[in-house]
Amino acid sequence: MTGTIQKNHASIFGTTLNQETYQHLYQQSIEQPELFWAQQAERFITWFKTWHAVNASDFNKGEIKWFQNAKLNVCYNCVDRHLPVKALQPAIFWEGDNANRRQTITYQMLYERVCRFANVLKSLGISKGDRVCLYLPMIPEAVIAMLACARIGAIHSVVFAGFSPHALAERITDAGCKYVITADEAIRGAKSVPLKKNVDEALLQAKVRKVIVIKNSGASIPMLLPRDVWYHEISRQASLECEPEWMDAEDPLFILYTSGSTGKPKGVVHTSGGYLLYAAMTHRFAFDYQPQDVYWCTADIGWITGHSYGVYGPLANAATTVMYEGVLTAPDPSLVWKIVDRYQISIFYTAPTAIRSLMAFGDSPLSKSKRDSLRILGTVGEPINPEAWRWYHDKVGHGKCWIVDTWWQTETGGVMLAPFPKVGNQKPGAACLPFFGIKPIIVDEQGKEVEKTQKGFLTISQSWPGQVRTIYGNPVRFFKGYFVQYPGKYFTGDGAYQDQEGDYWITGRVDDVINVAGHRLGTAEIESALVLHPAVAEAAVIGIPHAVKGESVYAFVTLVEKQIWQDSLVGELQKEVANMIGKLAVPENIECAPKLPKTRSGKIMRRILRCIVTGELDKIGDVSTLAEPEVLEQLISAHQAKIKS
Ligand code: WTA
Repeated sequence: MTGTIQKNHASIFGTTLNQETYQHLYQQSIEQPELFWAQQAERFITWFKTWHAVNASDFNKGEIKWFQNAKLNVCYNCVDRHLPVKALQPAIFWEGDNANRRQTITYQMLYERVCRFANVLKSLGISKGDRVCLYLPMIPEAVIAMLACARIGAIHSVVFAGFSPHALAERITDAGCKYVITADEAIRGAKSVPLKKNVDEALLQAKVRKVIVIKNSGASIPMLLPRDVWYHEISRQASLECEPEWMDAEDPLFILYTSGSTGKPKGVVHTSGGYLLYAAMTHRFAFDYQPQDVYWCTADIGWITGHSYGVYGPLANAATTVMYEGVLTAPDPSLVWKIVDRYQISIFYTAPTAIRSLMAFGDSPLSKSKRDSLRILGTVGEPINPEAWRWYHDKVGHGKCWIVDTWWQTETGGVMLAPFPKVGNQKPGAACLPFFGIKPIIVDEQGKEVEKTQKGFLTISQSWPGQVRTIYGNPVRFFKGYFVQYPGKYFTGDGAYQDQEGDYWITGRVDDVINVAGHRLGTAEIESALVLHPAVAEAAVIGIPHAVKGESVYAFVTLVEKQIWQDSLVGELQKEVANMIGKLAVPENIECAPKLPKTRSGKIMRRILRCIVTGELDKIGDVSTLAEPEVLEQLISAHQAKIKS
């Protein structure tokens, strides 16, 4: 160790957010961004070595760089530095599926368990820059493994445990992971998910050196030697001390796959310095986090919300967090509120789809809990409908909690727009105000800024530290995907408008990405799975409104010549999607179409399909670009015949 750890970071609780402080800080963050971010970086992060330049990003080149040459370790920031005063404070309250097992992990325990895990990783030959795939249930070891990777400078790629073996293999191969960390099984809603078996199947298509298996359910599973090792066996002798690796601020911290409008899922790369600062700062301000809070983000660690607000943001701020292995609604929809009471949770963060499914059980599950510890209620993932917003606000929060509807993306690293507590307005469904340093600009198709109240495309005009740095192994896709449509701006893929008072409203994706139960899915991925079936010639997938999931997957397929439609094809095609991606992407409806509506350049006009399914034929609009205009009539009558049958 050659540098010195900067210990002089000022308290992160010095600023109380209100209308005035928000406006003052926001203005400073936009007018003097370098000064603003430098001050915040000193406040929120403990650096081993300071930076040469705060921000050297250039949207015209698609280059994003923050705090260059600075050194830090993310795990040190999330664990070690809290020990002098918080060693005995719980870092994680863990609840097993259906609350049948429980663990309290203090910061001291977290430190020891992370160091031990890190030493195991090192003993297996994993070092700085290696990619490690995590395919894990919501158990403490998932957080510990992420932090252990960060401690030694390995780059984790967490794959949501609901993805199929094929999808897992694709992600292992794309990131070049040579190591996988998994568990025997996950247990969710009293059902087991065979994680190790899925890994075995995935590894028929992708090769790795080692698979580290964590004992969770205790199920007996086959181990392939010498590839597979049990964590509890290999960790027995491992030391509880492990020196952190000092990383460059721009060294990658993790890769996380997300869906785009075309092609395969993309490996979003986030870095050590900028990402951690942004996650910590947004956690502090979006939720008005205070030292006495107990905080529960229900997101799975397989998604960005689980990364930023289940792990990195709260732990960097020395928070006490709650982690739950099971499903929020099953088998007991009152359990989630009982957990709120048990730990006196004050900040609760979930997705609209979860709120709607809990709401579907009515108010009686609420009567078994008090929920009077709640102060802030957050949502993320899709626009929240006013009915769900009111239930959350009036019933769950007894009408006294601030609802923080946070708009952001895997690519943004952290919250970008939100009705920040005690700042501005509370409007059901509005994402309201930009976070510090975020400059949204809503533009029309030509890139011209639209007037207030006009709908347009949401872009961001200056870089922020939590911004995605690249798509792993594909810088060209990165540049083309985000910076080419509107030169000099980051394109979000979402539509938005500002109301008369200046508050932002998100209108949804404007590309071929859909949002099903808070899961982001690319229509192209599902279509590719459907056309693998020998009976299918072409497929078009759309999202249609769904009362609980927000959107559900609806697929149109055309058949190969001489093939006749049979209803049994629905099950076969659903199975194909479950195998290629996972159950989360399975179309609820599959319809046989005579032909697909395409433009002369061959692009499927999904808008037409959506209007046909929702019955909004008057909204189909301009069809002059349809290559074969007669297709429209054919599709409408085929759909009506299907409904009648
Ligand atoms: C959508 C999740 C409206 C949006 C953190 C975005 C939202 C996509 C909201 C990113 C919200 C997320 N209101 N829409 N509060 N939050 N979205 O990458 O379309 O899984 O582009 O990140 O979800 O999904 P992702």
